[in-house]
Amino acid sequence: MDLNKIKDLKITPEERITVNYVKGILQPTPTCESWDQIWNFQAKPDDLLISTYPKAGTTWTQEIVDLIQNNGDIEKSKRAPTFVRMPFIEWILPGVGSGLERANELPSPRTLKTHLPIELTPPSFLEKNCKIIYVARNPKDNMVSYYHFHRMNKGLPDPGTWDEYFESFLAGKVCWGSWYNHVKGWWNVKDQYQILYLFYEDMKQNPKQEIQKMAKFIGKDLDDKVLEKIVHHTSFDIMKNNPMANYSMVSSELMNHSISPFMRKGTVGDWKNHFTVAQNERFDEDYKKNMANTTLTFNFQV
Ligand code: A3P
Repeated sequence: MDLNKIKDLKITPEERITVNYVKGILQPTPTCESWDQIWNFQAKPDDLLISTYPKAGTTWTQEIVDLIQNNGDIEKSKRAPTFVRMPFIEWILPGVGSGLERANELPSPRTLKTHLPIELTPPSFLEKNCKIIYVARNPKDNMVSYYHFHRMNKGLPDPGTWDEYFESFLAGKVCWGSWYNHVKGWWNVKDQYQILYLFYEDMKQNPKQEIQKMAKFIGKDLDDKVLEKIVHHTSFDIMKNNPMANYSMVSSELMNHSISPFMRKGTVGDWKNHFTVAQNERFDEDYKKNMANTTLTFNFQV
């Protein structure tokens, strides 16, 4: 993946991404067109996969994991932007490169990123019993964050108004599909494989404890000083100003941070500034119905 091409990428309004379906789940069209290659991606047993529904705290988790792997060495974590250090396997920028190509260039052990729901995740990750860190975020904040991300990112379709987007999200008609399907799908298999299932809200409430969980899962024994350093370096304010983590290395024609910054708020509860009372009631009803068949629960209140 050529960084200069990502920095210099030009996109006309007509070139905004279109979407299509893979096995009933919406995906950016370039991903659909390369689907066989993505599905047949060969994971290696020592790959670590970071899996999330979009906007659940992926980049935050990637930065934490990178620092854990490098014993808290901040300089090492600044060697390249997040998406170069940890390729996003189903991401394809026409004329620029793909996450798959980048993954195949990386020496082992590799850390990779995906937003794919379990049923679309290349089967080799499970067949090879790779370690997987899954992070879930409460759906109301997840929806708000995703809406603003659509606004600033031409790699996703135009979200329309907030009210329109609210309906699309509830219907699961957004890229990477239904939030419910995603979080429950990974939850259902977590005990059959090496999957550490974490929550954005826990990471906010007790970052040190969650970082420690990740370190233990990865097999790293870090002392308290290093853990504190990682907590500090991966705090929202520090990451917001870190060009290797805040997506400012991507062309402003693709991601326009003046519309909405990638590092937007990083809080729990911003949904209260977006949902109308009626939307909240509808959402709660829908949530109750869709979560009735699972032991998975979310903390909306941190
Ligand atoms: P908001 O839009 O609510 O601010 P992803 O990396 O999966 O795309 O998720 C992006 C969301 O995680 C954004 O949420 C972003 O601000 C938030 N985020 C990124 N780094 C963070 C950090 N260090 N602490 C808390 N939230 C963070």
